[in-house]
Amino acid sequence: MEKPGLQRQDIGLAIIGAGRIGTMRATLATSHAAVRMIGVADLNETAATTLAEKSGASIVGTDSREIISHPAINAVVVSTGEHQHVEPVLQALEMGKHVLVEKPIALKLEDADKLIAAAAQSSGSLHVGYSRRFKRRYLTVKEQISLGRLGSVSGLSARIYNSRAQVFQMLKRDPHATPVVDSLTYFVDMLGWWVPDNPAVEVWARGKGGTIRKAGFDCDDVTYAVVTLADGALVNFSCSFALPDKYPSLGYCARIEVIGTEGVLMIDDDHLDQIMYTERGIPHIYVPDLTVNMAFLSSSAPGDWVGGEFWGPLASETRNWLDFVATGRPCALATAREARSNLAITLAIEEAVASGKTVRLSETAVAR
Ligand SMILES: NC(=O)c1ccc[n+]([C@@H]2O[C@H](COP(=O)([O-])OP(=O)(O)OC[C@H]3O[C@@H](n4cnc5c(N)ncnc54)[C@H](O)[C@@H]3O)[C@@H](O)[C@H]2O)c1
Repeated sequence: MEKPGLQRQDIGLAIIGAGRIGTMRATLATSHAAVRMIGVADLNETAATTLAEKSGASIVGTDSREIISHPAINAVVVSTGEHQHVEPVLQALEMGKHVLVEKPIALKLEDADKLIAAAAQSSGSLHVGYSRRFKRRYLTVKEQISLGRLGSVSGLSARIYNSRAQVFQMLKRDPHATPVVDSLTYFVDMLGWWVPDNPAVEVWARGKGGTIRKAGFDCDDVTYAVVTLADGALVNFSCSFALPDKYPSLGYCARIEVIGTEGVLMIDDDHLDQIMYTERGIPHIYVPDLTVNMAFLSSSAPGDWVGGEFWGPLASETRNWLDFVATGRPCALATAREARSNLAITLAIEEAVASGKTVRLSETAVAR
């Protein structure tokens, strides 16, 4: 984490990508005290103008470079689809702006390297939005492990479920945005964030195809991986985003267990503690035109709209990053290096599934 500074600077914020997440970030930014103006760019003119109207943006267009280069813009959120992150991030860093890009940083390690190099040359900064970090139950794990209350972590398991309705949205946008690279990555990120001094060195994984493949996507229904850390600690990641369309999850359902030499910590993040059933239907926050009758209410990953305001991990994350830009206070978002390490591990899981072989990770691949 960076040290707090004393500056107070106004923010001119560009939102590049006016889709679901860009809309949430822009809405949150409108009420931040330091944000004085907003600009919006989207390749889709209607999406750009709709968000510009909603967020009171004073500059709007389809060309990201034009919006980012406006002299009043000093901060840029890149909320484009996964394969469209690199170009606008490079543009913004070359112009010395502060950048928040959505996870995953990129889909190829070469592209992640390009962004890390550009950030090192830039007078701006680069952070990556792994908003799970900002869910209170995960923040508290960070604190307890940092304080040493579990002793040394010797094992961790993380299991995540979601409905296939959401994975189809992700894969339609980008066939490489698989549940492993695009979603399990949040839990890979938390592993590295919780135990930063114990990098992953080896990955074993297997996958089983089924429903998602039948729908025409090159993606397994179930993936199980075992990741070995440098000191021999074992991590079991498992994920399935093939649960039925109307499974009550509106996002991630997770179960995490951390075993330490002096304690154990269990997180029930399945959201079974808040269930609603209604004949009127509940709209899915991420999947247009999908309503469910039964929902685990707090399971939406970014958070929830309440009375026109957005609340939840994505709200806390956006605020933390805007505070960092405005005042220099510590920023808990993932660094570009951490995001690169997450990408290396998730790609290694996919490689291990495809090859049936164990994949060794080099020290440089996972340096954080
Ligand atoms: N933190 C979270 O909770 C969370 C949740 C879901 C998705 N995400 C991430 O957010 C990102 C966006 O996801 P989404 O669901 O909002 O996608 P989306 O498809 O709803 O929106 C993406 C928008 O970007 C626009 N776009 C693409 N390339 C562009 C370019 N070069 N310049 C300007 N606009 C461009 C598209 O036209 C589209 O409107 C992804 O990286 C995704 O992984 C984060």
